[in-house]
Amino acid sequence: MNPDEARTEIARLSAELEHHNRLYYEEAAPEISDADYDKLFRDLELLEAAWPDFASPNSPTKRVGGKPIDGFEQQAHVVRMLSIDDVFSESEVHDFFNRMVKNLGESKIPMIIEPKIDGVAASLIYRDGELEAAITRGDGTTGDVITENVRTIRSLPLRLGPQAPAVLEVRGEIYMPNDAFAQMNVERDEEGLQVFANPRNATAGTLKLLDSREVAKRPLAFIAHGFGQVEGLEIESFSSYRELLKELKLPTNDPVWHADGVEDVIKAIRKLDVERHNLGYGTDGAVVKVDSIAAQARLGATARAPRWAMAYKYPPEQKETVLHDITIQVGRTGTLTPVAELEPVLVSGTTVRRATLHNQDEIDRKDVRIHDTVVIEKAGEIIPAVVKVVLAKRPTHAVPFNLYDYVDGKCPRCESPIVQPEGFVAWKCMNFSCPAQASNRLKQFVSRKALDIDGVGGKVAEKLVERGLIEDILDIFELHVDQLADFNIGTAAEPRMLGEKNGTKIVETAKRARNAPLAKWLYGLGIPQVGESAALEASRLVKDIFEIPESEIIAMIREKGEKETWLKDNPLRSSKASDLSVDEFAERKATSEAYKPRVKELTEQLAAYSVSPELGGVASASLLGYFQSDSGQAMLSRMKEMGICPTSTNYLPEPAKATESGASGVAGKTFVITGTLSAPRNEIKDRIQNAGGKVSGSISSKTDYLLSGEGGGSKRDKAETLGVTIISEADLDELL
Ligand code: IVH
Repeated sequence: MNPDEARTEIARLSAELEHHNRLYYEEAAPEISDADYDKLFRDLELLEAAWPDFASPNSPTKRVGGKPIDGFEQQAHVVRMLSIDDVFSESEVHDFFNRMVKNLGESKIPMIIEPKIDGVAASLIYRDGELEAAITRGDGTTGDVITENVRTIRSLPLRLGPQAPAVLEVRGEIYMPNDAFAQMNVERDEEGLQVFANPRNATAGTLKLLDSREVAKRPLAFIAHGFGQVEGLEIESFSSYRELLKELKLPTNDPVWHADGVEDVIKAIRKLDVERHNLGYGTDGAVVKVDSIAAQARLGATARAPRWAMAYKYPPEQKETVLHDITIQVGRTGTLTPVAELEPVLVSGTTVRRATLHNQDEIDRKDVRIHDTVVIEKAGEIIPAVVKVVLAKRPTHAVPFNLYDYVDGKCPRCESPIVQPEGFVAWKCMNFSCPAQASNRLKQFVSRKALDIDGVGGKVAEKLVERGLIEDILDIFELHVDQLADFNIGTAAEPRMLGEKNGTKIVETAKRARNAPLAKWLYGLGIPQVGESAALEASRLVKDIFEIPESEIIAMIREKGEKETWLKDNPLRSSKASDLSVDEFAERKATSEAYKPRVKELTEQLAAYSVSPELGGVASASLLGYFQSDSGQAMLSRMKEMGICPTSTNYLPEPAKATESGASGVAGKTFVITGTLSAPRNEIKDRIQNAGGKVSGSISSKTDYLLSGEGGGSKRDKAETLGVTIISEADLDELL
């Protein structure tokens, strides 16, 4: 391929990928399969690696994020980013309109009414049609440069079409769709991470991340609602600007209304209040703007906000009702949530019978008691919540509520003891066999990264659990084709059978999955804190699953972690220690003196195993806790009965010894893979990992080998500069 051909092909692939991105993320109407998309993506990656000069920072391949940065740079806004004046009543809308009439000297004023999106404002600068920078509002004059993070927003074009003017600064709102937000919180909760309070907080938090690869995993979206600096184009009205945005494939607000009299403005505001609940993202008002840009210029702005726009803020509807009882719901991740059982009331058009009380802290803070009269609120599409108690209406028989006492310390679904994990406000059921958690666990168990059992995706998993075919994840290995063929995954009214073909697929892949490597099993079990890397590392330290509860190495990692944490939390010198009494201090000092040499000893003993930090004290404690628990032990004995013995395929507790004796040239070595190989990258990665090697994404001086296939330009160059050995697939086979 000559340079011209390469350049053309890179441009063609980029445009095609962007086209499919848009179909997938914006129109939810993909035209090609994920596999075909991946193929295009990989082709482009390869070409860009071979021709780095033609690789644009706005290539679709950059949407997965790049290297973390140390901090955000600041950039001044060429045109200041203003705020909008809020109004809260229809009479204020009349006042606003009358002011426009007076200042413009006209009785009819074309206006646009559109949703006020509850997100984070950002300004995107496109120069010659290429995204050059993205900046937050900051103080209105200067903001943070968040270009790398914004590049990961899939629904946003990084390149505009030929209609783009020389400079176009698009302003708009970055937000997170409600469903994607909820899904992300479920996943975070499963991983033991703090969940976000609402989509806005999640968006703001995400944009502050310094690692754009993390941002790429979060479901951000963008809607344009204004402009800043523009060169090479005269914009006459906001409506014509909207047309331009649409031509350039930039997402715009929908629905919008046009009005030129105040009555129509108010009608639009009322219509939007109904429609906004179905938009799928948070809105908290209606923005009303004068359409003509010339009129906007005549009206001007105050120091804070333009005079040509206003935001009508919808009040979250609140109602009073009686709290009859508090019940406990066990979520699919084991979290116990107190739920208010209410006298039914109509709020924002729907009858509300139940509202979340979040957790015990919230109940205490608001002093909610059973039989109280409470105020409930349904803000936007968010689940109804109890806002406060009407103390004046508290009856004498109102009863305080304590979650732990109410459930007698036991999960209401499975009766196993509940715990409050450190740093969490919620109580949790930690029993992995709890029926409330079964469908979630099953989904992880069968997922591609775990046992990869075909045909048991979301809906089927839920139904299998709901109808009692699977109570325990091991039940999946005892399903029969005839049982599944007639299995109704629809409803009683609209039945839909799984069918023989799908049933056979499930049974066959499940059969194969019995022999999946230990690491896949460990990840699939969904043990808190045990992700893919921790599972892989644990599997390196034991021969098979039955060794885990007795593993001395893992127990040492746990002990070291626990002691180190204690030492960190109980310092001898610091303001924290100065509050202690003499006795308390002496006791702390004695413990500290006992722990320190023990930690040193453990560190020395563990050195031979070179355990990666991916399997730390917390993950080890969780792993052992699970396998030593009653339900973990019960699972192991059932596995024995069923003849299932997940075995380590990367067993290598002492990598140094193995290298010395030359057992395998791969063990303990770090590989980076580049170029086109004879098998999918994941397969090769598995082979290296199964032999005790590590696979990393980027080359550094710590890399032992660069495995290079066809292409692989930039990584090869870097390897040569760093003196990293470059090997072929045949070399790898030899090492293995
Ligand atoms: S127009 C000069 N339209 O709300 C500001 N803003 O509270 C004109 N916002 O900073 C902005 N949705 O970030 C406009 N449809 C919309 C909006 C919107 C959300 C944000 C915007 C603004 C903030 C003011």
